[in-house]
Amino acid sequence: MRRLIINGTLVDEAGEYREDLLIEEGVIRARGTSLMAPGCEVIDAAGCYVMPGGIDAHTHFNIDVGIARSCDDFYSGTRAAACGGTTTIIDHMGFGPAGCNLHHQLALYHEYAGGQAVIDYGFHGVVQHVDDAILHEMASMVEAGVSSFKLYLTYQYKLGDTDVLRALTRLKEVGALTAVHPENDAAIAERRAALLAAGHTAPYYHALSRPLECEAEAIGRMINLARLAGDAPLYIVHLSNGLGLDYLKLARRQGQPVWVETCPQYLLLDEACYFRENGLDYLLSPPLRPRSELDKLWVGVTAGDIDTLATDHCSFSHAQRLALSRGDFSRCPNGLPGVENRLPLLFSEGVMTGRITPSRFVALTSANPARLFGLWPRKGSLSLGADADLVVIDPRGEQLIEHQHLHDNADYSPYEGMHCRGLLRLTLSRGEVVAREGEFVGRRGAGRFLARDPFNAALAPVAGSSQQRGAR
Ligand code: URP
Ligand code: ZN
Ligand code: ZN
Ligand code: ZN
Repeated sequence: MRRLIINGTLVDEAGEYREDLLIEEGVIRARGTSLMAPGCEVIDAAGCYVMPGGIDAHTHFNIDVGIARSCDDFYSGTRAAACGGTTTIIDHMGFGPAGCNLHHQLALYHEYAGGQAVIDYGFHGVVQHVDDAILHEMASMVEAGVSSFKLYLTYQYKLGDTDVLRALTRLKEVGALTAVHPENDAAIAERRAALLAAGHTAPYYHALSRPLECEAEAIGRMINLARLAGDAPLYIVHLSNGLGLDYLKLARRQGQPVWVETCPQYLLLDEACYFRENGLDYLLSPPLRPRSELDKLWVGVTAGDIDTLATDHCSFSHAQRLALSRGDFSRCPNGLPGVENRLPLLFSEGVMTGRITPSRFVALTSANPARLFGLWPRKGSLSLGADADLVVIDPRGEQLIEHQHLHDNADYSPYEGMHCRGLLRLTLSRGEVVAREGEFVGRRGAGRFLARDPFNAALAPVAGSSQQRGAR
């Protein structure tokens, strides 16, 4: 099927263009002002932005966290993503059985996603222990299209400094980007034990058990370990505070290759949520912060110091949370849903408020993740030959977030009742319409696995500017 999108404003990371766009065989075939294409379906995008579809580089679909399995699998999770304008997800594989190898998890995740995902997908590896065999295996994982790995500094399979250094060194060597969940586990354990011993089990104590210094310390530590590992490229996930961002800016001023992601929850929700009747629904790590931290993150988003916006979608229903926690925050599975809300929220609170330009919106939601995670320029760009993964956004429309209209399997939305300025009219995945006006019209199993290229620093975004290294 050939499709022609007319009358819209094309937007990529570099600018805005009054051009039409021709899609053929799932890719962008032509752009221009008077494209003729007899017999093709015409989409009138008058008054709308036509942008590269979103790339959500941080989801956890179907994840087993030991005490529970998240309520979204690769079908419901990608269906929700598509309805929210996201056309690619890169899922963080969960921990496997003790001692399992990297390819074990990869095979499992191919089973989870194959025949289920409605949009294209990739996987980040997870390093749950380090030994010679794991280090050896990293090379064949990159060959298999997994060119980024996550290390955890907290939770059950936290890594110590020796293992972190070995992993960073080897991952750089094999062409992979190291992503890290930075929180100081020892400090958290100490505080949590003291709070629980004093009978403090309500949701707000979750936040008190992991203050921002726990996160900032671990970010600082990772920056220095990455430098010691020969400037191994480093990607900080789910940044929630300003001090951590200051450390990252300092490292960058010294030329270190570090990048950082934040999430809508850290820009829009604060710790007051823990005092709501449904405070349990907001438990995640790092936790929601005081309002002053949100402001610091917005400054980073506007200035270009924050590179990507992902969701960390990890959904446990209210029912699951209630049953497992029995009133104790420390027994509640962590994580928030939100894969469907990322683009509408950033468009409304970023573009429509004037905090960011439409191009910066594209950089944060699509182009930068493509550049960092080996998908550029096939994804995240409007260049000829790129996959026709597109989102059409109407700045004149509005959307009210209500969970009953979302497409995930959770039973609540952390953003319930929020008004978004801007309306997603269409999402296209490789040229096929997968969502229309918030309704899913795609097909289970239509998504393909993306074997991602090795990490390439020459393509990575340059912080604090809209300039990119390397040719477009
Ligand atoms: O609480 C969170 N963020 N859960 C998801 C797993 C992780 O730490 O990214
Ligand atoms: Zn994490
Ligand atoms: Zn996560
Ligand atoms: Zn609801």
